[in-house]
Amino acid sequence: MTKGVFLTFEGIDGSGKSSQAKILAEALRERGHSVVLTREPGGSPGAEEIRKLLVEGDPNRWSPETEILLFYAARRDHVERTILPALERGDIVISDRFADSTRVYQGAVRSELRETVDAIHDLMIGFEPDRTFIIDMDPDAALSRGLARKSGEDRFEDFGLEFQHRLRDGFQTLAKSTPERCVLIDGNRPIDEISPEILTLALEVTG
Ligand code: ADP
Ligand code: TYD
Repeated sequence: MTKGVFLTFEGIDGSGKSSQAKILAEALRERGHSVVLTREPGGSPGAEEIRKLLVEGDPNRWSPETEILLFYAARRDHVERTILPALERGDIVISDRFADSTRVYQGAVRSELRETVDAIHDLMIGFEPDRTFIIDMDPDAALSRGLARKSGEDRFEDFGLEFQHRLRDGFQTLAKSTPERCVLIDGNRPIDEISPEILTLALEVTG
């Protein structure tokens, strides 16, 4: 058991996770909390190096199994070096993506991989966030937001629109199956309409 609170943001590419994570971090800091804002894949120096292998290049450069192992190598480093030390200090950790992304993205590639992800998660991580905000939105609108950035990190966006629709379904199913942890947020609204709703839900767990 740690003293801190662990919050995560999930959703399809371009749904507004990073924007909302940043706004929430600021709002909690204004209330006097010590907040670590981090992201996956990445969030520690080693995991950021692994990130480059994952988000750049040919969509088919890794087999789905290899990809899961790379995500979990990055996640284990992120947990060891960034997340757990912060939670032990009593900080609030906000991560832009975590294990649910692997469950949904790699599970959408081949459905039986979802079990593989859960088994690796139990072995190598063994805990879940206190609350997860899943930003739900129309993939057509989200994809045009995401690609408009042209970040060079578009390997997953390059899987195409049909894949993004499967991801949206995957996140909605996940939210229904774990209602005690996950809340579905309607992302098809202006940024400053969404953020107060998220802050209220975050304050329920941060106090
Ligand atoms: P994600 O982290 O989910 O990929 P971002 O927060 O980076 O999404 O948002 C993707 C793009 O969409 C950015 O250009 C951002 O400014 C814009 N954006 C985010 N949320 C909204 C919103 N609610 N309405 C309109 N545009 C938004
Ligand atoms: P991210 O930088 O969050 O992309 P975006 O800002 O476009 O949402 O994540 C990079 C990509 O990696 C994203 O397309 C989702 C994918 N991903 C997985 O497939 N599995 C995972 O476990 C994680 C953490 C990310």
